[in-house]
Amino acid sequence: MSKFPNSRPMKTFILPTFGVLGFVIGSGYALAKTNYGDRKIGFLEEQIAKVGTGVQQAKLLLPAEAEKRATAAKVAEAESARAAELETQVAQIQERARAVTGRQKKVASAPTPGKKLGLGRTALTEEIAAWDVDVVPGGRGLPDGSGDVATGEEVFADKCASCHGDFAEGADNWPVLAGGFDTLGDADPVKTVGSYWPHLSTAWDYINRSMPFGEAGTLTANETYSIVAYILYSNDLVEDDFELNRDNFADFEMHNKDGFIFDDRPAIEYTRWRTEPCMKNCKAEVKVTMRSVFLVETPADGGTESVMNPASIDDLPTFSADGPSFVPVSAQDMDRQNNAVGAAQVIEETDPDAQLIATGKKIFRKCKSCHAVGEGAKNKAGPHLNNLIGRRMGSIEGFKYSSAFKLASKEERIWSEATLDKFLTEPKVYAKGTKMSFRGLKKEKDRIAIYEYLRQFE
Ligand code: HEC
Ligand code: HEC
Repeated sequence: MSKFPNSRPMKTFILPTFGVLGFVIGSGYALAKTNYGDRKIGFLEEQIAKVGTGVQQAKLLLPAEAEKRATAAKVAEAESARAAELETQVAQIQERARAVTGRQKKVASAPTPGKKLGLGRTALTEEIAAWDVDVVPGGRGLPDGSGDVATGEEVFADKCASCHGDFAEGADNWPVLAGGFDTLGDADPVKTVGSYWPHLSTAWDYINRSMPFGEAGTLTANETYSIVAYILYSNDLVEDDFELNRDNFADFEMHNKDGFIFDDRPAIEYTRWRTEPCMKNCKAEVKVTMRSVFLVETPADGGTESVMNPASIDDLPTFSADGPSFVPVSAQDMDRQNNAVGAAQVIEETDPDAQLIATGKKIFRKCKSCHAVGEGAKNKAGPHLNNLIGRRMGSIEGFKYSSAFKLASKEERIWSEATLDKFLTEPKVYAKGTKMSFRGLKKEKDRIAIYEYLRQFE
């Protein structure tokens, strides 16, 4: 601003000056109106300082120019008066903004969400608690509880070993969770929880949130503590009498804790998002042409052949306060399942067979991540198990069996109570070379219950 040539007409000089003041007023007003809360105090102070500087500059410029242009003295006087008036307003706004920062403890309450559009409701405390499960480095967010290596070994064998191996070494191609310590510098490093992960909290949080695969959210806090203790043990990071709990969690230092650094080389994106975002050449108008949920469809049968959905926005379902104009298929399934559960519970009380089936259903949780049963069951990691008893082994169209099952199919072997029992006792012994990574059901009563359960799907 101070570089304005003196010879310019007054008009061009005044306008930019008020441009600054307009910005000053505008941002001051925005600051005053917004409820920033305590965290933003630093930011606010910075902004207010900027506002202050703007006022100073405007003040210095106006009288200086006015002196040099005697002919325009009157105009200048008026403008300077106006500037003073604006300055007072800015001061008032700053005062209000300061009140908002909480220095005067007068924080306005947040607006009631949902009121304006008549949509939604305030979330219940329980609902928030159910979502608010993140655990951060240092252990903040951990629930009460504890677990030792020995317990962890049992839980791991039961719920994790079918995919991750008895010693977390990884079965087949499922992820390896232990070892790889001296490979991080290799071209093909083995990145495990032990060798690679810098924070123990990531292991706790990830496992608690997402494992066992296909049954996320079923672990108790103590189970998760014990599993994490066992994974540390499998990585030779603790002794076999180690117990992990909320109190000693933060003290645990991971092998690779210093292995991550900020990549702030100028050529990469870090420097871009650390500076002011570019707001030039923006599109004038934003038009919604598609909703992402309808844009790409995950193939129903798995695989990588995702398809672009040809639907355009014209045919999309409408949404109102009563919900969407269609019921998603998954929600219908849920309804059906709930009804089925209700009915099953009624029978269970009276019929011993029904009790066995109910037990079988529980045990089937171990199979569920790889096998589907019931109406519309599709192949997953393993073939669907409808009509299993009496079915030829390895005979489901479109499923890629191991050569062990291809051979069994050729030999026309049949699934019966006896063959299923043998297979499930020790899958890898009964079907040598099978690609079913499952250690088997050791208890006979579990195998009987599974048989009774699977017989339902004929
Ligand atoms: C049915 C197979 C299966 C079972 C059972 C299972 N997992 Fe996993 N696990 C996976 C798969 C698949 C991934 C990779 C997921 C991904 O990358 O999105 C994974 C990833 C992980 C990882 C992250 C590995 C890494 O380095 O990225 C951990 C840790 C883990 N599982 C722990 C467990 C624990 C603990 C249990 C038992 C409570 C368990 N898993 C049960 C299949 C399984
Ligand atoms: C980690 C994934 C996984 C788990 C867990 C698993 N299976 Fe399997 N299952 C498979 C795979 C893969 C095959 C195909 C085997 C092959 O081709 O060698 C298979 C095959 C089978 C077959 C033969 C089907 C046919 O068409 O001949 C039966 C029966 C079976 N599983 C039952 C079970 C039961 C019961 C459980 C639980 C107690 C279970 N499986 C747990 C992956 C799994």
